[in-house]
Amino acid sequence: MIGNFTYCNPTKLYFGKNALEGLNEELPKYGKNVLLVYGGGSIKKNKIYDQVVALLKQNGKQIFEDAGVMPNPTSEKLKEGIERAKAANADLILAVGGGSVCDYAKAVSVSVHCNDDAWDKYFIRFDEPTCKIIPVGCVLTMVGTGSEMNGGAVITNHEQKLKIGHVFGENVYPKFSVMNPEFTFTLPKYQMISGIYDIMSHILEQYFSGTDDNTSDYIMEGLLRSLIHSADIAVENPTDYEARSNIMWIATWALNTLVAKGKTTDWMVHMLAQAVAAHTDATHGMTLAAVSMPYYRYILPYGTAKFARYAVNVWGVDPEGKSETQVANEGLAAMEAWMKKLGLVMNITELGATAGMLDGMVKSTLVMDGGYKVMDEKDIRTVLKASY
Ligand code: NZQ
Ligand code: ZN
Repeated sequence: MIGNFTYCNPTKLYFGKNALEGLNEELPKYGKNVLLVYGGGSIKKNKIYDQVVALLKQNGKQIFEDAGVMPNPTSEKLKEGIERAKAANADLILAVGGGSVCDYAKAVSVSVHCNDDAWDKYFIRFDEPTCKIIPVGCVLTMVGTGSEMNGGAVITNHEQKLKIGHVFGENVYPKFSVMNPEFTFTLPKYQMISGIYDIMSHILEQYFSGTDDNTSDYIMEGLLRSLIHSADIAVENPTDYEARSNIMWIATWALNTLVAKGKTTDWMVHMLAQAVAAHTDATHGMTLAAVSMPYYRYILPYGTAKFARYAVNVWGVDPEGKSETQVANEGLAAMEAWMKKLGLVMNITELGATAGMLDGMVKSTLVMDGGYKVMDEKDIRTVLKASY
């Protein structure tokens, strides 16, 4: 059944090899002052920076820079960004980078004209923005998070050992996003496969919930099949445009929130992974990969029918003569083998988690209630322990 919902996604997308030219259409809509936000320098190495700056200048913009946004952007860096945006009197924040840069730009955009502490307001109290929001545009260089077409912003507070996402409303979505698959060709393999698994996880978080007949589940099975197919090609040949363009588009679909409409969702893999990241600062997609198999094996008995359907429709498991549980387990085994073949990190020890972190990670895990089992503290501990 499709439940009741309202939906609006206001982000305009420019997709393809000439996507950056979309800036010529977008930039004239905003005032002169542009805060150019980026990460640790990859955009300078691959020259995307030069192309963006040239277009900003052509459009008569005054450029202010906020560089050094780290993967898993921090609450400390957010404070700095707010000050920079204020000093620039920014009319537009242009994020050039991956999910970290796009998320960070959104977090800055809702905080500049607000007097409260941004971390407390948005990531502890989950308030909605009540102040003026500075428009954000994205030029995407890393694929996975879906941040280019959603209201998500994930910020890490190292002091409090918390990594928390706020899913903002449509007024915070990027006004536009530039998506050129070629911009992702320079990603190191570690980041590429991490992004690929982030995409898979987003889809599975929305798939493994509910027992009703829901069109979104059929859409997600298609997205998963396309992702697995293209990922195999991209790992062999990272500059295969066909595969990389498919992966980029699947990432957007996986988390532009459309497939979640009218159905329940889980998100516990992300909650567990964010707790791991809060203690290790590890790469997002890898933290997801490291906790996924223990989590799914743990909840399989509570949602066996859906896991069996997943095995057959996504992994091509032959159900003939087998019990539902057998089929479901074969599906997870196929998924695990594929993850290993891709080169994903399959345990949290390799990501820097030590035994001494377990209690803290259990505490840092937020609980969502849409999955096949609502996890209590003991369940969370069991899954995290099995992830070492
Ligand atoms: O910082 P630079 O030098 O740019 O290097 C980055 C970074 O080290 C590099 N990179 C990006 N594009 C590149 C490139 N290197 C070479 N060539 C390119 N074209 O890749 C590294 C990772 O970048 P990052 O932005 O951190 O990766 P990702 O896109 O995976 O973003 C991760 C962040 O997004 C959050 C995560 O929690 C994490 O904080 N998420 C956001 C979501 C959302 N908005 O809805 C949902 C997700 O579940 C996720 O939680
Ligand atoms: Zn994710």
